[in-house]
Amino acid sequence: MLALASARSVGESLRFGGEELKVACATPAAFAGVDVVLMATGADVSAALAPAAVAAGAVVIDNSSHYRLDADVPLVVPEVNPEALALHRRKGIVANPNCATVQMVVALAPLHRSLTTTRVVACTYQAVSGRGKKGIDELSAQVMALYNHGDIETTAFAKRIAFNCLPHIDAFTADGSTKEEQKLLHETRKILGAAALPLCATCVRVPVFNGHAVAVHASFAKPFTLEAARALLRTAPGVVLRDDTETPEAYPTPIEVDGEDATFVGRLRLDPSAANSLSFWCVADNLRKGAATNAVQIAELLVRDHLGKGAAATA
Ligand SMILES: NC(=O)c1ccc[n+]([C@@H]2O[C@H](COP(=O)([O-])OP(=O)(O)OC[C@H]3O[C@@H](n4cnc5c(N)ncnc54)[C@H](OP(=O)(O)O)[C@@H]3O)[C@@H](O)[C@H]2O)c1
Repeated sequence: MLALASARSVGESLRFGGEELKVACATPAAFAGVDVVLMATGADVSAALAPAAVAAGAVVIDNSSHYRLDADVPLVVPEVNPEALALHRRKGIVANPNCATVQMVVALAPLHRSLTTTRVVACTYQAVSGRGKKGIDELSAQVMALYNHGDIETTAFAKRIAFNCLPHIDAFTADGSTKEEQKLLHETRKILGAAALPLCATCVRVPVFNGHAVAVHASFAKPFTLEAARALLRTAPGVVLRDDTETPEAYPTPIEVDGEDATFVGRLRLDPSAANSLSFWCVADNLRKGAATNAVQIAELLVRDHLGKGAAATA
């Protein structure tokens, strides 16, 4: 097990599985002898380092957006499209999807398989940890500054995030949407294998430290009852249904799912504004299921089905 980062972190210590790991610099030579790399760097760094790791003989599971829409790179959510992983042989790279997309497709997939999704409208409420450590530090610093009548500094986000909401995640695109909203569209299509699925997203950064939520409004080709939709979600892998407003738990919130690996779904109701339509609320820990847990689940599948001694020899 190796811990690699930029030159800034060399020599720092990390605890992993009872071991103490010293951080080394992620140079191409550092990947020698490594089987699987869990890469969690920005897109530019992944673009430079992933081919070097593959050349050294590793399979790379990349968290960045760089390879996600590459036709020769599988974009995998193990509960949804594990079969796509076989495509890793083309480039030696597996892409881990966008954090809000992961949780939405985990909840949408069982409904899609039974009812065939015809349209999705998604509004996200995304935590500052989705912007990395810089985002967490900025919300903390702004809250402290506000309580102490200090100056507010804004660098990680376009505007003040403390006690505010920003409908702006990643850069704006020519059509007036954002790259984050485009990720939800294109990545959902790729993972569900629904290349023409109409999907409209509004992605909003909220002053929550960790845990993304998505309000999903989905229409389907087939009619269904609310109870049938509940039954599909209740038995879906990776989903915890928390949908009973009569109980104290009632519905999931980001604080309640912090540190959890599942996607939590609640507030299920038929949408009377359109035929065969359902509204629901899903919440997950974006650092876990939206990033690290999904990457580790991909690694486990890779080792079990593709790299291990008994692995199936499919391409
Ligand atoms: N946070 C989320 O919810 C989430 C979810 C899904 C996907 N992602 C994606 O995952 C990636 C990482 O996100 P994050 O939130 O973990 O970011 P982060 O907190 O900013 O961490 C970035 C990591 O990349 C390392 N790094 C930077 N430049 C490097 C270089 N030249 N060579 C080697 N390592 C370098 C950093 O090391 P130093 O500490 O030494 O600088 C740090 O360990 C991004 O592409 C992000 O879009 C994030």
